[in-house]
Amino acid sequence: MSDPAVPPVRLRADVLAVPAYRQGQAPTKPGFKLSSNENPFAPLPGVLEAIAGRGEVNRYAAAAMPELRAGIAGEFGVTLDHVHLAAGSVAILFQLVHAAAAAGDEYLHAWPSFEAYPSLGLASGAVSVGVPLAAGARHDFDAMADAITERTRVILLCTPNNPTGPVIRADEFARFMARVPADTLVVLDEAYREFVTDPEAVRGERVLRDHPNLVVLRTFSKAYGLAGLRIGYGVGDPAILAAAASVAIPLGVTGIAESAALASLEPAARAALGERVAAIVERREALVAGLRALGLEIPEAQGNFVWIPEAGSAAASGTDGISSVAALAADFAEAGTLVRPFPGAGVRVSVGEAESVPAVLAIVRGHLAR
Ligand SMILES: Cc1ncc(COP(=O)(O)O)c(C=O)c1O
Repeated sequence: MSDPAVPPVRLRADVLAVPAYRQGQAPTKPGFKLSSNENPFAPLPGVLEAIAGRGEVNRYAAAAMPELRAGIAGEFGVTLDHVHLAAGSVAILFQLVHAAAAAGDEYLHAWPSFEAYPSLGLASGAVSVGVPLAAGARHDFDAMADAITERTRVILLCTPNNPTGPVIRADEFARFMARVPADTLVVLDEAYREFVTDPEAVRGERVLRDHPNLVVLRTFSKAYGLAGLRIGYGVGDPAILAAAASVAIPLGVTGIAESAALASLEPAARAALGERVAAIVERREALVAGLRALGLEIPEAQGNFVWIPEAGSAAASGTDGISSVAALAADFAEAGTLVRPFPGAGVRVSVGEAESVPAVLAIVRGHLAR
């Protein structure tokens, strides 16, 4: 047998050097899966019926999907050509980095941030530049602006920041954008925007008009609970989105995903969405309060996840974190609850079922007592 790590054909050395995206683990024993920022609720009302009624799976879906794009465009007050769909917003991140950054060009993002960012440029040879977070696990906008070079082609801003939780505030965003060259693409990744309660947070729909170089990303995966169907969207300048479409794999969005997304925008589904988001936010606040009561320094949590920093890590502003990411993750695994460890930085815990909140607090309490 040949070594499985050595391919039998010539492949790119730079590709072989990079590990593939690592998905949150699936549970091996009964417990909670809090490792992928998924939604614990069943699909929204009307979604399963829409999927079942779609039929014609032997045909390709009509890729333009004007009804869905018009619905999204209406929310942003733009025309339909400002909306681009893809099989998940991560696909659009990939497309935009490819459309703007060639081999040797740089794209900038905070770090830790969404785990997929560093590998987005791999296939094109674009270089990921991760700028360490500042105190409170927030974006360090001075350092990010200082890191812009002649080769910077894309800046990815994640709000709220996955995995650490804080939002980008509107004033921070405005000051930063004033330092970004007008011909540099900025992507505001708002995958978790429905969970945001901070009134100071930047909102894509409020700033899009002021910045022709901005694309706002949203997804149906998180609050809408359609992660398994793969559908997300970008809103921005039509010429930028046309370039993203040029490097996209054709026909990525399925008709079933389109129907589910359309059903999710119906009034009854939206009402249920609001209730579910409120429930997740309530659980998130209970988790944050419970963890802080245990003496941990938990940053502002504005997504459907909570960040437990490692003591003294770059993403913790003080020393009141856990002492070992690996040891805490092992305690979670032992209890049958899966979370996402970031070695040397912290542990991200998704907000899941109501019963998962006391379970998480009990595991962390037990860990700290040892
Ligand atoms: C910040 C951020 N952006 C984008 C995505 C991609 O989501 P999707 O491709 O499911 O739309 C995720 C998924 O976890 C995320 O955390």
